[in-house]
Amino acid sequence: MNLFNIKDKVAVITGGTGVLGSSIAEHLAASGAKIVILGRNQETIDQSISTLKENGYEALGIAADILNKKSLEAAREKIIYHYGKVDILLNAAGGNMPGATITDEQTIFDLSMDAFQTVTDLNLNGTVLPSIVFGELMAQQKEGVIVNFSSMTVERAVTRVVGYSASKAGMENFTRWMAVEMATKFSDKIRVNAIAPGFFIGNQNRKLLTNEDGSYSQRGHSIINNTPMKRFGEANELAGAIHFLCSDASQFITGIVLPVDGGFSAFSGV
Ligand SMILES: NC(=O)c1ccc[n+]([C@@H]2O[C@H](COP(=O)([O-])OP(=O)(O)OC[C@H]3O[C@@H](n4cnc5c(N)ncnc54)[C@H](O)[C@@H]3O)[C@@H](O)[C@H]2O)c1
Repeated sequence: MNLFNIKDKVAVITGGTGVLGSSIAEHLAASGAKIVILGRNQETIDQSISTLKENGYEALGIAADILNKKSLEAAREKIIYHYGKVDILLNAAGGNMPGATITDEQTIFDLSMDAFQTVTDLNLNGTVLPSIVFGELMAQQKEGVIVNFSSMTVERAVTRVVGYSASKAGMENFTRWMAVEMATKFSDKIRVNAIAPGFFIGNQNRKLLTNEDGSYSQRGHSIINNTPMKRFGEANELAGAIHFLCSDASQFITGIVLPVDGGFSAFSGV
């Protein structure tokens, strides 16, 4: 028996057109999973789906708003029509936003509460709602796996990103809560975990971590100095951890947050 077999599993990925989500979609597809990408922009979704299909993979793209229950329920209906089930939900949609970030010139007293609310909606509610809509289906199926996307900003304060950190912290707590709820009330075959990526250069943090000439910014250097492996992560380096959490190899693991961080969370900095 291959513990890591995920062939023909139906994997729904919110934020599946993003830097990390698209890399994971590619890996899971190559491992035989059927990929459903949920995104906001139909054109971007179509591009991601055609890339997967050009490589011979099974994939479906659906425009859906992760903050709108009806939109998610409509997506769920389409998926049931096409594939009949959902085995895996990856809540990859999320991120930071400028207004909820404290710049070098500002202090906490300059925080925009509107921006704080928006970033909380995205990272906390944007994981809770898809988990409810697809978790309900998993409860009926008595089987399923959810993997959430946390961050290194949860355990210790990382300057600037106050709203992002607080909302990811809430999301980590929800991961544990949902894991307990599903295992105690529905099935020990429904598992809910999270990964906590370290620092991967992507669209959202490129300007913070690098200068225009591509060299590392002061913040970029600071992160590298606190990362024992002395480098940023590559998107494809999340694939193994996610594959593990999605497969029977982790069948007795639920409610955990798995760091994928080059040692950042283990290091005191000294
Ligand atoms: N890149 C990193 O270093 C890093 C580190 C830790 C955690 N993460 C987390 O990993 C996940 C993916 O990050 P990424 O670097 O690929 O970012 P990305 O910006 O490339 O992708 C994020 C995706 O989320 C979607 N999204 C954003 N706002 C949305 C909304 N309101 N509704 C629906 N979808 C929305 C975007 O369309 C995009 O597809 C995020 O949750 C992020 O917080 C990233």
